[in-house]
Amino acid sequence: MVDVILGMQWGDEGKGKIVDFFAKDYQLVARFQGGPNAGHTLYIGDKKVVLHQIPSGIFHENKINLIGNGVVLDAITLQKECAAVGSFGIDYKKNLFISDRTHLILPTHRALDKASELTKGKEKIGSTLKGIGPTYMDKTGRNGLRVGDLLDKNFTTQYIKLRLKHQRLLDSLNFNEDISAWEEEFFDALEFLRSFKIVNGEYFINEKIAEGKKVLAEGAQGSMLDVDFGTFPFVTSSNTISAGVCTGLGIAPQKINEVIGITKAYCTRVGEGPFPTELLDENGNYLRNAGNEFGSTTGRPRRCGWMDLVALKFACMINGVTQIVMTKADILDGLDELKVCKSYSINGEETQKIPFQMNRLEINALYQTFEGWKTDITQIHQYNAIPQTMKKYVDYLCQYLGVPIKYISNGPGRDQLLAV
Ligand code: GDP
Ligand code: IMO
Ligand code: MG
Repeated sequence: MVDVILGMQWGDEGKGKIVDFFAKDYQLVARFQGGPNAGHTLYIGDKKVVLHQIPSGIFHENKINLIGNGVVLDAITLQKECAAVGSFGIDYKKNLFISDRTHLILPTHRALDKASELTKGKEKIGSTLKGIGPTYMDKTGRNGLRVGDLLDKNFTTQYIKLRLKHQRLLDSLNFNEDISAWEEEFFDALEFLRSFKIVNGEYFINEKIAEGKKVLAEGAQGSMLDVDFGTFPFVTSSNTISAGVCTGLGIAPQKINEVIGITKAYCTRVGEGPFPTELLDENGNYLRNAGNEFGSTTGRPRRCGWMDLVALKFACMINGVTQIVMTKADILDGLDELKVCKSYSINGEETQKIPFQMNRLEINALYQTFEGWKTDITQIHQYNAIPQTMKKYVDYLCQYLGVPIKYISNGPGRDQLLAV
């Protein structure tokens, strides 16, 4: 059986912490989409680690970690991440497997990402510049190179052909930065990548499932960044939703059991694009500072706002969320009053549905206001001990969404998680 953990907002919901917590109950943890645009933060003791491509189960002994075919992989980043993980005494080579169908991010993909974001007159997405979009474009355009190709003697010839094609595109975008240093690093990192256990991911994972092993699929980004259902074009280039687990790992839909949706107790977004509950006032600044809302991959300040239940209910629907984990509840501790968006007003009409092309509409968020709890909840270990005012907030969310909140995270630490 396969359970899924995924983000329900615009990413950075705390997926890394929650996957690390749940991993103890599984034998295999797999990433199914995204790439080094992800930054999943874990605390191992009091030491912080940010994982970009390696599944967040890597710190558990004897858990298999799989990078699935739906991921786009940057060998340079992988090598750096492995060094970070290795510094904790983890033998990553023992438990990390990579699917042969996983597409490779090439240095020219990174250059193309940068060139495309710098093109004058083009709407900026606020991409992480990691080459994600161009790599997925090559995948759907039937061009890209995959991890399994590394074992082919024609790899370099194929690389050169693709590089020429990319160079023409880069020239047309007037991109003239020298990428030879990246390429050198890339070829070194490919040697490192070749030393991994490269497997046929779909047989590998289905055999584990047939043996009765429990699989946890770890999402990256969030549902509102999904290429089909997010705030297009301000999205990432993969299917971040639960359907992405099937295509990103080669798993049949009936194998999926629990879909665990992660949401912050408020909302953030990094990069451009619509954000109906964004707060540009002192409350927004408060959330950013208290929540330390600065990107774990790019360091950019995250835009902050109130929780958006219209978007969350949409995420419950398209993912089939069966239970919710609410993170960063402690960040609301200092507020006198808090709000959640319960509907949108668009051209004077109220709706609880996500409209087509949000960025072309003037959306006014309509709120439900709650009294703040003004209590430090970070040291609480039992749900029963939380303030009544907070229970009211939680009950309202569960009722609105029609899905139970099963855990509340009240701090970044491994032990700061309350079972509801
Ligand atoms: P991910 O991309 O979904 O894994 O999330 P990130 O790691 O990018 O961002 C979440 C940030 O919030 C990280 O710095 C976590 O350490 C931190 N975090 C996670 N849960 C909590 C929580 O309940 N309270 C607080 N204060 N921080 C949290
Ligand atoms: P995790 O897994 C938050 C955003 C970027 C940009 C858009 C497209 O840590 O939650 P891309 O580089 O994918 O082409 O950028 O998506 N974005 C994220 N925002 N968390 C992430 O990952 C993100 N990955 C991409 O900021 O707006
Ligand atoms: Mg993140």
